[in-house]
Amino acid sequence: MANPSPRRVLPLLDAPHKGGRSAMTCRFRCGNACDHGVPNTTDNEYFGDLAAAAVSRRGALRAGALGALVVTAGAAGMAAAVPAAAEPDASAAASGKHGKPGKGGLAFTPVAPNTQDALVVADGYESSVVVRWGDPVTEDAPAFDFDNQTAEAQARQFGYNCDYVTFFPLGPNRGLLWVNHEYTNEALMFRGYTDGGAAPVEQIKIALAAHGGSVVEIRKNGSSGRWELVTKGRRRYNRRITAQTRFTISGPAAGGDLLKTAADPSGRTVYGMLNNCSGGTTPWGTVLTCEENWNQYFVGANGVPEEQKPYLTRYGLSTTSAIPSGSRRFDRVEERFDLAKHPHEVNRFGWVVEIDPFDPTSTPVKRTALGRFAHEAATTTLAKDGRLVVYMGDDGRFEYLYKFVSTKRYIHGFDRHNRSLLDEGTLYVAKFTGDSPAAEIDGSGKLPSDGAFDGSGTWIPLVTGSKSHVPGMTAEEVLVHTRLAADKVGATKMDRPEDVERSPVTGAVYVVLTNNSNRAAANVDEANPRIGNKHGHIIEIVEAGDDAGRTTFAWSIPLVCGDPKDPGTYFAGFDKTQVSPISCPDNITFDAEGNLWISTDGNALAANDGLFAMPLRGSDRGHVRQFLTVPFGAETCGPLISPDQRSVFVAVQHPGEINGATPDNPSSRWPDGTQPRPSVVVSWHKQGKKIGS
Ligand code: FEO
Ligand code: CA
Ligand code: CA
Repeated sequence: MANPSPRRVLPLLDAPHKGGRSAMTCRFRCGNACDHGVPNTTDNEYFGDLAAAAVSRRGALRAGALGALVVTAGAAGMAAAVPAAAEPDASAAASGKHGKPGKGGLAFTPVAPNTQDALVVADGYESSVVVRWGDPVTEDAPAFDFDNQTAEAQARQFGYNCDYVTFFPLGPNRGLLWVNHEYTNEALMFRGYTDGGAAPVEQIKIALAAHGGSVVEIRKNGSSGRWELVTKGRRRYNRRITAQTRFTISGPAAGGDLLKTAADPSGRTVYGMLNNCSGGTTPWGTVLTCEENWNQYFVGANGVPEEQKPYLTRYGLSTTSAIPSGSRRFDRVEERFDLAKHPHEVNRFGWVVEIDPFDPTSTPVKRTALGRFAHEAATTTLAKDGRLVVYMGDDGRFEYLYKFVSTKRYIHGFDRHNRSLLDEGTLYVAKFTGDSPAAEIDGSGKLPSDGAFDGSGTWIPLVTGSKSHVPGMTAEEVLVHTRLAADKVGATKMDRPEDVERSPVTGAVYVVLTNNSNRAAANVDEANPRIGNKHGHIIEIVEAGDDAGRTTFAWSIPLVCGDPKDPGTYFAGFDKTQVSPISCPDNITFDAEGNLWISTDGNALAANDGLFAMPLRGSDRGHVRQFLTVPFGAETCGPLISPDQRSVFVAVQHPGEINGATPDNPSSRWPDGTQPRPSVVVSWHKQGKKIGS
């Protein structure tokens, strides 16, 4: 639909929470984190107290028996060489001159903001659902039956609230999708749900089974860009990972005292992953999936030993109440979720997890060398000398940006060696320094007199293998209590670092800051320049020498989001009368031309979330256009562009998640006209054009 109808009044009036989110999203997504104090109470000064051709993060050849070509999405397929460049030049980054000007090739008519309960795509494009909550994943899975759900069925069916999506081709017309299932919304899943304390135990078991992730085989429908779920015959790779699947723990913190529990005295085995938000892929063809708001799943934090409490508080757990409000009460099924009885169980969540989508019998691995925080995403690339680099955001207000650089080098085709790269390396945290006088950063979003929010930065080492760089903390402590380690070295407090991705065309790195309503006049800085940052912004980083392995960088802000009529917004200098309003950027990817595709979460401009495209080079730099909008109450996740550039996938997470909605009074009936069902969708051009062209 090209011209969506005007906004309509929806049956339920939502009381929005901080930013543009529904209060219901706040409850189920992150355990009402906004209602609690900001966990980062350090007084870090906010500012500057002061290849090898790179293989793109998602493009690579998978060595191994399958010999399958593993190319993921946005990476435009196989990696473009990162052009050699001089030392970074902040002015070049700021003015968009990084990389040669090129034609972005985007030519679609933007979708207007709307509040329809529909997926609305740009004129000339079509869309369809690929897989939705409850669809059979394993060959023995039963059909979905909303009013007769069981945990046994859910553990074989597609889970709830899909987020990160990535793709592994099995051939030109078949492939595997990996999809995260971030969290459950029991108030929309079950009739009559009130809270975890009153819920039937079977509902809690269903919720455990609806978390995690899925591997599903998909195939292309004819010559169009439409992809669909394979529903018949052998589906040898299809798999569900849940909150009860067995995982191993690896890396320097594995086996340490902080990870040991009564049930696991080895400190090397844990069951389940929780709140997996975004992720990444490795050059050897595995998935990295990231545990984000895992702190909300535990009770009994008031009963842990006193000396442990500061560590829980720093990760947003309340140590004053036995049962946090809105708790799902997983402890009613598994006692380990009660920290008063099993205080270390919480340390076994909050990691980056590696999963092999090509081996459904493999045991997923939690990689402790990458640190423990509210992991949003884990984007891999290679340093010029071949070391593996992983960029990671900690999605919390005033949290930090991190990267990991492996000690050893990636060896193409040597799978066993490559899998060890994520177990030994250096974990860094970012410090941003502005180049304009502090007095010129007035908090309104007005550019300083040099015309740019920009400056330089350093990556501060926290730990290398089993050697800590933080005084007073062991390597194990740095990895398990990473936020506290980063506090000590003066990292820069950011406005909720979400996705971080590296352009396969220019090598520049983009950091998405979703929003931060708590950013105040006293703590604006050039990298987080707006008071009460409701709409978020994106930072562009150019690593020294365009080498992801280096420890200094230049940075600038090409996009300050919001209503373009708001003088506090910035679209890389592009004419703001020509751009789409955009609010709360979250996950990003690239097309083959190097255009940035941005999905949003929590649009604070009173319209549905969407997917946007923004050229990064040439005269079109900053020309943001909305490509699609998701149904009412949903956020847009996991944008993924197919290797042939002719299909774009998005995860429609939490449709109908509006305060007061229930199965008997839903605020969305997407996609089937019944109950709202989180789904992965695909869009393509009717004439087979490249996405966005
Ligand atoms: Fe799950 Fe940071 O969004
Ligand atoms: Ca400046
Ligand atoms: Ca998100």
